[in-house]
Amino acid sequence: MPTRTTQIAFPATAVVALVLLLLPLIILADDLQIPNDKTQLTAWFGRTIKNYKLRRATLDPELVKAEDNLKIIKVSKSGGGDFKTVTDAVNSVPEGNAGRVIIWIGGGVYEEKIKIDRTKPFVTFYGSPDHMPMLSFDGTAAKYGTVDSASLIVESHYFMMVNIIVINSSPKPDGKRKGAQAVALRISGDKAAFYNSKLIGFQDTLCDDRNRHFFKKCYIEGTVDFIFGSGKSIFLSTEVHAMGDGAMPTVITAHARNLESEDTGYSFVHCTISGTGSTTFLGRAWMDRPKVVFSHTYMSSVVNPLGWSNNLHPDRDSMVFFGEYNCLGPGANMSRRAKFTKKLDFNGAKPYISLNYIRASSWLLPPPNLSAHLLIFRVDFHDQESGCQQCPQFPIVCM
Ligand SMILES: *[C@@H]1O[C@H](CO)[C@@H](O)[C@H](O)[C@H]1NC(C)=O
Ligand SMILES: *[C@@H]1O[C@H](CO)[C@@H](O)[C@H](O)[C@H]1NC(C)=O
Repeated sequence: MPTRTTQIAFPATAVVALVLLLLPLIILADDLQIPNDKTQLTAWFGRTIKNYKLRRATLDPELVKAEDNLKIIKVSKSGGGDFKTVTDAVNSVPEGNAGRVIIWIGGGVYEEKIKIDRTKPFVTFYGSPDHMPMLSFDGTAAKYGTVDSASLIVESHYFMMVNIIVINSSPKPDGKRKGAQAVALRISGDKAAFYNSKLIGFQDTLCDDRNRHFFKKCYIEGTVDFIFGSGKSIFLSTEVHAMGDGAMPTVITAHARNLESEDTGYSFVHCTISGTGSTTFLGRAWMDRPKVVFSHTYMSSVVNPLGWSNNLHPDRDSMVFFGEYNCLGPGANMSRRAKFTKKLDFNGAKPYISLNYIRASSWLLPPPNLSAHLLIFRVDFHDQESGCQQCPQFPIVCM
């Protein structure tokens, strides 16, 4: 390349000033890279995914506008809130909603089948970490069809969930009853974040249906295909719990990618695979081209030494993308892995261990800091579910 000796006509100080001016507004690609060292995760996340007020310039404009128009409504089973059911609270959100609505849900079990329609974006479900509310229903595929069997269905964009348990309470499929699959949560909307939440079921627990999602410090439990669909998601520091009983093999993921053009995939980073039994597959080729990667993940001995299944379709061996990078634990032993497994090096894994995988810089927000609303909660929530009188600190409410 020929070099030019021409002086840059722009004073260097101005360049530096401009760079400094822009620095707080943008997240650099390198910052989005998830650290290899687990002990750095919390500090890195706090540094990278800051409050929306510090990221106005690069977040989706409609998201910034919504966060500027925050509203909090409260659900309490025992009264004292704005509503007694989550359904009533969701119904109160108007169609075409343009402001963030935080639905604070008090402790207890809510036996409701809840759906957030696509016309209601910017909804947050928020529970207390010590009295996590349980949203529970017993829909099955036989009654509703698989994807509509979910106890909680979210079709809207910009959904967030913090400290919530979602359960499908229908009985474990016995292999005889038809349509016994039962989804706990279906997330279909784009740009959804889940923090410190639990998803409980057997077959098909989480329908990660389509669009981009982020799960952090969650717990997902099931038997077969318990994370399935066509989503593009990152699961960070999440426990995946496979409940094998020795009879039937269990399968964690059934990613439904068919065409090369589909920009979808599931990436698990710094996760833990726990459970019972020893025949759990990390994923199966339900469709032609599933894309699933596990990085820095501890795999207990529940994982089948083969790791992955082509679903008895050897023709899919050349089409699947089943990758592993730097995993550990007895289940991560690669010596007997299915031959189509991709043993990724850092460069191969790099796109999957970055929040850029889900284009997080334009939409991913941390759980909201509700401390400014402490007074409201202190008044309304003392002596409710937990009987506590003093709520010293939000979000540590009535612990
Ligand atoms: C992996 O498994 C093979 C046999 O399946 C065994 O010989 C080897 O010691 C194992 N490696 C580790 C690190 O446990
Ligand atoms: C939440 O906001 C309050 C001020 O309203 C602040 O004192 C506190 O440090 C914040 N907490 C976090 C975790 O950012």
